[in-house]
Amino acid sequence: MKITNICCIGAGYVGGPTMAIIAQKCPHIKVTVVDLNAERIAAWNDENVENIPIYEPGLSELVGEARGRNLFFSTEVDKAIDEAQMIFISVNTPTKTYGLGKGMAADLKYIELCARQIASIAKNDKIVVEKSTLPVRTAEAIKSILENTGNGVHFQILSNPEFLAEGTAVQDLLQPDRVLIGGETSPEGEQAINSLVEVYANWVPKERILTTNVWSSELSKLTANAFLAQRVSSINAMSELCEKTGADVNEVARAIGMDSRIGPKFLKSSVGFGGSCFQKDILNLVYIAKSYGLHEVADYWVQVIIMNDHQKRRFAANIVQTLYNTVSGKKIAFLGWAFKKDTNDTRESAAIYVSDYLLNEQANIAVFDPQVKEKQVLADLDYLQSRPSDLNKKGINVMDDPYEVCKGAHAVAILTEWDEFREYDWQKIYDNMQKPAFVFDGRNILDTPKLTAIGFIVQSVGSTN
Ligand code: NAD
Ligand code: UGA
Repeated sequence: MKITNICCIGAGYVGGPTMAIIAQKCPHIKVTVVDLNAERIAAWNDENVENIPIYEPGLSELVGEARGRNLFFSTEVDKAIDEAQMIFISVNTPTKTYGLGKGMAADLKYIELCARQIASIAKNDKIVVEKSTLPVRTAEAIKSILENTGNGVHFQILSNPEFLAEGTAVQDLLQPDRVLIGGETSPEGEQAINSLVEVYANWVPKERILTTNVWSSELSKLTANAFLAQRVSSINAMSELCEKTGADVNEVARAIGMDSRIGPKFLKSSVGFGGSCFQKDILNLVYIAKSYGLHEVADYWVQVIIMNDHQKRRFAANIVQTLYNTVSGKKIAFLGWAFKKDTNDTRESAAIYVSDYLLNEQANIAVFDPQVKEKQVLADLDYLQSRPSDLNKKGINVMDDPYEVCKGAHAVAILTEWDEFREYDWQKIYDNMQKPAFVFDGRNILDTPKLTAIGFIVQSVGSTN
């Protein structure tokens, strides 16, 4: 089937950018992105394209070009489903917060709602594409819902997991390492796979488009995230040993990264990984392994999370210990709140957990992040339910000037690796801080010798400086 009409359910960090690229690269396809969240859709449609709800380098230009031409954002879910030949499901799949599998399994209620909605609306055959990250064998459940409508409509279900990373989403989508498409091995399944291959082939070289069966595709996505997160936890485990032994984790990473079997990427020691997916997907993997009785497999992967929690906690504990064992009433300046640079996404950001720890120690925290607003910071803290909302509000102060944030502080902590932090006037920051002036570089981005020469006491992750 030659695809000319696509609908994507879910206008989030994946649905928005992915569909913007399809629209740009396939002018012959009408792409409609729908969401229940009217505020989010209104932001995607904002006259000023700079106000779209997701910050990603290059994204607003792309949306500005395609929007209204062959890219549309709408809350009319039923209409878009009805008109589309191919429907991407790109809704959120968070960790369950209730019932069986609470705190581990993926919550599939949004996925099931989508399947039921498609089943009730569709009047002609459609290809349904799982874009969300899903537990292996979810396609089976979707198929069962879609096939029991009794209206004679046929569905093909494909798994097409997304591998983009936030902050580089546009680049990752334009030049993906690979596109993965899983489908049934029947002739109808192969036809559906080909239809999707043809969409991607408008800009992705065919040798980078992998096709496989549905289960392998679903499990490959969880596996890729588990491997990536495991590299971060592995280097972070070494960072603690480096601090004890006088070795420098950056040097260790450089040395092992030159081994072509290991490779240099994803070896940056940090305050701990964040983001909406690594933890959620590993917990999901652990849950699946346990459900098959594979306890050693589950224990192996859970260690990646244990290490990451330890890294966040030890960063916070070190601040307290270094500041003479008390931060009560002291101002601690946070530079960065997003879970990584070049995104406004704060989900599971290390900054949330470090600040929670320091608020328990009665610190006063001031925050600056180039893309994150006060409302989001407070919502992130409230979500933890560690203390009443008004106490979070009292303990944390979000400002839009980094120099004001650092003024009068006992310590500055770098939580996100925004490039601009390197360029600040650190002499000016030093002059306005309490002395001794401490810097805790949770991302190893600052020029330590330069800061030390100014007078700062600098602590980096994984070295004794
Ligand atoms: P998100 O929360 O930013 O967006 C999901 C959107 O779906 C929300 O706007 C929500 O309102 C909407 N939605 C939920 N149920 C709906 C329904 N029934 N009808 C219409 N809209 C509905 O999530 P995201 O970050 O885009 O992630 C989506 C999926 O992609 C997840 O499974 C995630 O694991 C996966 N993923 C995310 C990334 C990433 O970088 N964020 C990368 C790869 C894969
Ligand atoms: C990650 C994967 O890289 C994507 O391939 C995947 O599609 C996505 O998850 C997903 O499924 O959601 P993302 O979380 O957006 O992408 O960003 P990453 O670049 O992977 O960074 C994740 C976290 O690890 C960040 O907090 C980052 O600062 C941290 N990190 C990463 C390190 O601490 N050190 C590193 O060397 C790399």
